[in-house]
This record gives sequence, C-alpha cells and structure tokens, in this order.
Amino acid sequence: MKLGFLGTGTIATAVIEGLIKSKARVEQFNISKRSVKNSSVLKKKSKKIKVHNKNQEIVDKSSIIFISLLPKVAKKEIKKLQFKKDKIIVSFVSTLDIKSLKKICYPVKTIIKAAPLPMAIDGLSPTIIYPNHKFIRNLFEKIGTVVVAKNENQNNHFWVMSSFMATYVSIIQIMKKYLLKNKVRNEDANKYINTFLTGMLFELNNKKFILKNSIKSLQTKGGINEELLKRLIKDKFFKKLENNLNKIFLRLKKANDK
Ligand SMILES: NC(=O)c1ccc[n+]([C@@H]2O[C@H](COP(=O)([O-])OP(=O)(O)OC[C@H]3O[C@@H](n4cnc5c(N)ncnc54)[C@H](OP(=O)(O)O)[C@@H]3O)[C@@H](O)[C@H]2O)c1
Repeated sequence: MKLGFLGTGTIATAVIEGLIKSKARVEQFNISKRSVKNSSVLKKKSKKIKVHNKNQEIVDKSSIIFISLLPKVAKKEIKKLQFKKDKIIVSFVSTLDIKSLKKICYPVKTIIKAAPLPMAIDGLSPTIIYPNHKFIRNLFEKIGTVVVAKNENQNNHFWVMSSFMATYVSIIQIMKKYLLKNKVRNEDANKYINTFLTGMLFELNNKKFILKNSIKSLQTKGGINEELLKRLIKDKFFKKLENNLNKIFLRLKKANDK
C-alpha cells in the first residue's frame, strides 16, 4: 500500500508519524515538500518517506491519496491534478462535501471524508470517517479509534467536537495561569495539571461516561466544586458554549451545502 499526502502540515505530519510508529503495513509515504520544515523532519524518520515537489507525482505514485490542504488551497490545487479511476481519496477538509469532491477528483469513485486529530501522533486520535470504508477504517484504527458517521449531517456534528481542542486547552490554561500568578513553580503546576487531567479521564471511565453521575459525585454538598459550578451556570458559561457549538455546526453545514 502506497499512501500519498497532498500537504505536509500539522495533521498530515501527525498521521504519518502515528502510522510509522504503529507499524501499519505501509510500503511508501509519498509526501509534499511543503511544509519544508515538516517534510525534512519526516524524511529522517523513515526510509519509506519520499518527498515530492509536484502534487501530480504524489497522486501518480500512490493508491490512496490524503488531501491535507487548507480549504481554499485544496479547491484550487486539486482541480489542476489528473486522477485515475481506481484511486482512493481521503479528504481531511471539513468544508468540501462528497459531492463536490467527486466533481473535482473525477473520475475517482471512492471518496472518504476523515477528521484525524493531532493526537494521531501518539495513536490516540478519535477519527471521524464518512462514509464507511473497511480499509480506511482499519488504517485509522492503527492511530486511535474510529467513529463512522451515518450521513454528512452527522459527520458535521462530529466535526463540531473537533473544534473544541483549542478551547479545552484554553480552559486548562486558565487553571495553570492561576497557579503561576500565585507563585507556584511551572514544574509543579504542570505536574498537578497533568495528573489531574489523566485522573479525571479515569474517573469518567470508572463511571462509564455517565457524566451526570460524575458531576454529582464530584460535588460535596456546600463544597467548593458545588460553588464554582453554580457560579458558572449563573454566568451562563455552559449555555454560551452550547450556543457556540451550534454556530460551528451551522458554519460547517453552510460550507458543505454550497
Ligand atoms: N489541524 C487539525 O487538527 C485538523 C483536524 C482535522 C482536519 N483538519 C483539516 O486538514 C487540513 C490541513 O490542516 P492542517 O492543520 O494540517 O493545516 P496546515 O498545517 O496549514 O497544513 C497545510 C499544508 O499545506 C501545504 N501547502 C500549501 N499549498 C500547497 C500546495 N500547493 N501543494 C502542497 N502543499 C501545500 C502547506 O505548506 P506551506 O506551509 O509551505 O504553505 C501546509 O504544510 C485542513 O483542511 C484542516 O481543516 C485539520
């Protein structure tokens, strides 16, 4: 199996590194020279990595082609390429739906949308795919878990979840800033937060992700967890988050409906 990556940016790099570490049976990775920084680092990681200047070379030399370009670049660049019917296209671009991908990648019939996340590098990406494809599903399972969306609408709803990454870290950053502002050493702040986050994940897992049970058991009556939660509910913190998730969905839907 020869994989081709159009665009060697953040997400392609994470997927490629994850696949190399996973020992997935890949014969060759044909990757874009751009970004130069990423392709030169990857080249040193495996003999299977071949760096190309031309996108057409990547397409011609690979059986599965991953589109890992930014939306506007993807639309412009893919139109310039010639595809053979038997190729498989996997697009990481949220705003291109299957119908428009089929048009710009004509005559390719097998087109999958996928949303791996940067955690793929450690084999921990929850990857959304649509539609289902056994081989592609197995490939992404090598670098995490896979959820298969039932339709494009559900695919967009799952994509909304992926918009939460930077916000999630920003919330953690508030906790860390609080500690640093109060003269806690960086090392101790990191140590506390690291185990806090890992431990919380186990706590949720122990409660089988029945979140209402965790929310209840994590609050002592009259305690500080109860107080902070009440304050944030009063400030509409959660309502605002929910409303904004809906707005992200509408953005994805609008782009896909075009
Ligand atoms: N990051 C995520 O967590 C994530 C998750 C799921 C899906 N996605 C989607 O995946 C796609 C890529 O995202 P990303 O975060 O990896 O973006 P990125 O880091 O900006 O990667 C895009 C890459 O494309 C390269 N490029 C630009 N023009 C090119 C061309 N003509 N030919 C070949 N390569 C070219 C860029 O190189 P230069 O630096 O030289 O311009 C850059 O390395 C996007 O559509 C994004 O929405 C991202």
